[in-house]
Amino acid sequence: MCGIVGYIGHREATPIILAGLKRLEYRGYDSAGIALIERHHTNGNHVPSTNSATLSIRKCKGKVNQLEDLIRNMPKTSMLGIGHTRWATHGAPSDINSHPHTDQTGRIAIIHNGIIENYSAIKETLVERGHHFESETDTEVLAHLIGEFYGDGRNLTEAVRLALNEVIGAYGVAVVSKDSPDEIVCARKGSPIVIGVGDNENFIASDAAAIVSYTRNVIYLSDNEIATITRDSVKTRTIGDVEVTKDVEAITIKLEEIEKGGYEHFMLKEIHEQPSTVRDAMRGRVIEEEGSIVLGGLRNHLPRLRNAKRILITACGTSYHAALIGKYMLEQLAQIPVDVEYASEFRYRNPVVTEGDVMFVISQSGETADTLAAMREAKRKGALALGIVNVVGSTIARESDGGVYIHAGPEIGVASTKAFTSQVTVFALLSIMLGRMKSLSVVDGKELIRALLALPGQINQILESSEPVIQEIVKEFKDADHFLYLGRGYNYPVALEGALKLKEISYIHAEGYPAAEMKHGPIALIDNDMPVVVIAPHDDVYEKVLSNIQEVRARGGRLIIIASDSDKRIEKLAEKVIRIPETISMLLPILSVIPLQLLSYYMARERGANVDQPRNLAKSVTVE
Ligand code: F6R
Repeated sequence: MCGIVGYIGHREATPIILAGLKRLEYRGYDSAGIALIERHHTNGNHVPSTNSATLSIRKCKGKVNQLEDLIRNMPKTSMLGIGHTRWATHGAPSDINSHPHTDQTGRIAIIHNGIIENYSAIKETLVERGHHFESETDTEVLAHLIGEFYGDGRNLTEAVRLALNEVIGAYGVAVVSKDSPDEIVCARKGSPIVIGVGDNENFIASDAAAIVSYTRNVIYLSDNEIATITRDSVKTRTIGDVEVTKDVEAITIKLEEIEKGGYEHFMLKEIHEQPSTVRDAMRGRVIEEEGSIVLGGLRNHLPRLRNAKRILITACGTSYHAALIGKYMLEQLAQIPVDVEYASEFRYRNPVVTEGDVMFVISQSGETADTLAAMREAKRKGALALGIVNVVGSTIARESDGGVYIHAGPEIGVASTKAFTSQVTVFALLSIMLGRMKSLSVVDGKELIRALLALPGQINQILESSEPVIQEIVKEFKDADHFLYLGRGYNYPVALEGALKLKEISYIHAEGYPAAEMKHGPIALIDNDMPVVVIAPHDDVYEKVLSNIQEVRARGGRLIIIASDSDKRIEKLAEKVIRIPETISMLLPILSVIPLQLLSYYMARERGANVDQPRNLAKSVTVE
């Protein structure tokens, strides 16, 4: 999704903004741009002449490197600027549609994340008043609207505030003007803005990763808030014009966490981090000797959870797959009925939610627009909303009634890997906790915890042992056009996840299916060329999956099987076997998904795809 970076202070703005934009590249984008305000200095001694400044804008379709080339010869003396990476929504990726956009007079520049829904109505009115638009974007319309309010005694903040009162939709915006050359105005509704507080300098960003190397002190804007930022002050009010005092908070992410650390891609690094991220998801939450679990963020909600008539889980993409596994776990151990729904479907179909319902909202980023909207809808209808979120301080984390952080650290690769295993780990903790509050015995609780604690070592084992066979599979199947992934029980959502990973980064069409459903249709796809990945470790449905494997074999499908270390029967059924250690059924997804992540990674790499920034995708989908 789009990225925002801004700087005002005593240093050159350009390198800071470019470095910030590079940090945000992982979010996915198609164009980039920068606006710089330069004070005119008298007699060369950097004494500003009042209110005399120029606004320079450079922008292009393509990557930040291309923007860098474009601004190479510009004087680098600006100490105030804003930069943007755009992920197209209104208007195709092009130089003209790239941000920043200016108002009618060319004195204001704006960058914008989100969507202004009523932009065409506003545009019509402005066109009637003689405005001329260059781009197809909703953002340019907002720039012109701000321009309409600017002047006649109204300063930049007031103009932005009044304009935002007219718009319907979502925004994170940053605005500068050459007539107000000592400030940046930013505001948010539905799209994150974080302000980095420095020493005689301040920063803004849509994601703390962009500014973490400059300051660790930040202010998170809340929805409907606007901030006026100078080099030594940050003033915040609501869009309704009420002053608000914000706390300065410390960023928790570390610089090394957002760097590749010797790996070729973030995705590979993140796959290899899973022994420690799964351990971190459990840290401080497990009471081994009592066979029980403590989740501090749910402490105040235990009676309501225990008495819940139903649990709803909502999420998108990979988080949705983790939620499906969570359903199986919660129903097995806590015996509470669970409904899982795509957030994008939930919010638009008038779902039945009653006051006794508890909703778990699953999101790595904590910013996914559909997931956030589903949560708000459920809260409005009286449900208790609890987040299972990775990004600390994200909107879902703030707006939920409580929740559990997965503590996976920043996930930069667009394809989600470590967040998935941590989400599933947290679901296991939650299910054991609720189970123990109901009928799960201490002995069973202890056995589950023992198995959980063994997972990091077992993931390590898979990482160390599976790469050679995965490389062979990649060589053999790199030209395949289709893949089928099959699994049953706990491994059915893993089949969905394996297929999603393959299609999103290697662009091979893949489908995940419950293994037994195959004979109701997809079996027609199987011929001598069709690679079929079956997740068939020793679990409660192992024998059943063997029958499904035979069905594939009988039709000539090329079988790649994820099997348990000790499985002696599988070798003669499969063309390739990837081994994983044994664990209890419920925890198998945390192991069986690892080779599938590696398979998609190496397949994409072999096919020359951009692993960390796959085409058309964004890391966190902050538009509907
Ligand atoms: C796939 C992937 C996406 C996300 C989805 C939800 O690899 O990353 O499918 O899982 O966009 O994102 P979050 O979890 O941030 O809400």
